[in-house]
Amino acid sequence: MTMPATNLDEPGFTHVSVLLEEVTQAFSETSGLVIDATAGGGGHSYALLKRYPNISLLAFDRDADAVHAASQRLAEFAPRARVEHVAFSGISARLDELGVGEISGLVADLGLSSHQLGAAERGMSFRAEGPLDMRMDPTRGETAAELIARLSQEDLADVIYDLGEERGSRRIARCIKQALARGELETTLDLRRAVVKALGPRRIGGVDPATRTFQALRMAVNEEIDELSALLDLARARCLPGGIAAFISFHSLEDRRVKREFMKRDFWQRITPKPLVASDAEQAENPRSRSAKLRVGCRQSQSLFELDSEEE
Ligand SMILES: C[S@@+](CC[C@H](N)C(=O)[O-])C[C@H]1O[C@@H](n2cnc3c(N)ncnc32)[C@H](O)[C@@H]1O
Repeated sequence: MTMPATNLDEPGFTHVSVLLEEVTQAFSETSGLVIDATAGGGGHSYALLKRYPNISLLAFDRDADAVHAASQRLAEFAPRARVEHVAFSGISARLDELGVGEISGLVADLGLSSHQLGAAERGMSFRAEGPLDMRMDPTRGETAAELIARLSQEDLADVIYDLGEERGSRRIARCIKQALARGELETTLDLRRAVVKALGPRRIGGVDPATRTFQALRMAVNEEIDELSALLDLARARCLPGGIAAFISFHSLEDRRVKREFMKRDFWQRITPKPLVASDAEQAENPRSRSAKLRVGCRQSQSLFELDSEEE
């Protein structure tokens, strides 16, 4: 199923959902309440609500632009659908407030929307000049500029190494701190220049030298690993037996965590022993889908622990 890009009256909110048919298909036996933890433009939520009348959906996003766009996109399904401005780490508390206990499923399409990547003022991209911000929720938390200023050169290098898996992290951190000391680190393009100074301009496999550094800083600014852990905990704690959890990740640090979660055999049956990837056609149509990996788990109906006890 090819879906048109979301392009609502939110100026320029454009996002093409990845692996849309595969995600939708994963919920073919589901009825009841499903959480979409990454509403974005509402693409996955829309497909689920449209195809499955027995599903109701609570969607969340930490980006107010996404909440606005998804609310409009899903308005035709009210009261079956609702969208709220909440980060992964706040969803459990919000469910408690709403009196929601267990859920029938959860979908998360991690990472950035094309809207976030394309909006220069969000500072996510090294292709457009913008402030060193990088927050998915610009109303709270530390910006990338503040993070770079606060961290020591050594800690900055550790962030770039751990979250960007960047082997040139020490050289990069030194060049970033030098640029900051000279007053030459105001924008995304300044940051890219500092990385190029450290690594040289060569593109490896067509990938810009600044890619890993930008990924690392964005992940640190948004505490993405801790956020993902909170969401995986929520899926385990809240999914009913038979409930479906579907995670799309875009890089190995996320995918490894999702994979590790679904290895907990007393909680999950792995529906996708190997991650699903986008078809050649989807990859040709939507380059963002090239690094997407979908893993789906089904909450065991009866824990293996219970099965073991029964056998004794
Ligand atoms: C790839 S987009 C989702 C697109 C959506 N599935 C669609 O089809 O339109 C990812 C969204 O997840 C949101 N997001 C990422 N991390 C989040 C977090 N920790 N809490 C809440 N939202 C988050 C981003 O703000 C972004 O809007």
